[in-house]
Amino acid sequence: MSFPVTRLRRLRKTAAIRNMIRETEVNRDDLIMPYFVIAGENVRNPIQSMPGNFQLSIELLVEEVKDLYESTGVDKILLFGIPAQKDDTGAVACEHDAIVPQAIRAIKKVLPDMMIVADVCNCEYTTHGHCGTIINGDVDNDSTLRTLAAQSVTLANAGADVIAPSDMMDGRVAAIREQLDANGFKNTPIMSYSAKFASGFYGPFRDAAESAPQFGDRSTYQMDPANSDEALREVETDLEEGADMVMVKPALSYLDVINRVKSNYNIPVVAYNVSGEFSMVKAAGSNGWIDEERLIKEILTSIKRAGADVIITYHAKEFVLSELKKGNRV
Ligand code: PBG
Repeated sequence: MSFPVTRLRRLRKTAAIRNMIRETEVNRDDLIMPYFVIAGENVRNPIQSMPGNFQLSIELLVEEVKDLYESTGVDKILLFGIPAQKDDTGAVACEHDAIVPQAIRAIKKVLPDMMIVADVCNCEYTTHGHCGTIINGDVDNDSTLRTLAAQSVTLANAGADVIAPSDMMDGRVAAIREQLDANGFKNTPIMSYSAKFASGFYGPFRDAAESAPQFGDRSTYQMDPANSDEALREVETDLEEGADMVMVKPALSYLDVINRVKSNYNIPVVAYNVSGEFSMVKAAGSNGWIDEERLIKEILTSIKRAGADVIITYHAKEFVLSELKKGNRV
């Protein structure tokens, strides 16, 4: 039955009817807000390329997370650490008093119900900025698994609720699962950055986390942006190794990948709306070229519509605040 019997505009006539048939809504429960914690006291370094984001020392981070929770109800965060000292292998991140474990303990003391996702990777902790141990000029897969598993156990010990490996080594989910189980953390879930692409969209993050590789790039371990069959293989191997949730990263240039993962596997899918995606919106917004609030909502909605159950986004706080201000349910 087509025109004139069918008129799709009938269901767009009023706000009430549009609200009634809307298929996708982003809620605060879907969102995870990332933070960067840095060694030191009373440090609040603005991240130039990511307006509104800061490298925060622990006590200021605790204040910020408390404010996030009280003003928006967002109860999930992702932590990245910038240590005082780096080394060859990232072993600094495995110490009991490493920067992120300290931050986790401090947050949990004040906000025990805050869900803390701990990113597991070596690039913020190595002098060379690569995600693994370098042997003969190459990022060595199997020896890196040991540091990743040790870092995961340290984070779980500190109280991390979810372990999120972002290094893209083969076999890391199995290695981490085994060590978590062996150390009494059999109920700690793994959120694996399964399909993580070698992307130009991470540029601002590498300033924020001081983690840019000092030589070469990450294309021998992160995925080629041209591939999506391979993304499904990455997801499949991670599921076989015991991943509880899988991630696609970045989000916007990879909505098709999010959709394929969601339609092929019955598993929660996480999408990471990364730093470069955030910064482009901020740059255009501050020039008055786009309506920033409107774009943020459209972007988050599109990621969810594509199939993501969970969205990691630097827009989390401002998005919820703006929806609350408008009196919208969020
Ligand atoms: C660490 C890591 C990166 C991001 C998250 N974890 C950077 C990278 O792989 O270089 C990127 C996050 C963002 O751009 O917002 N491996």
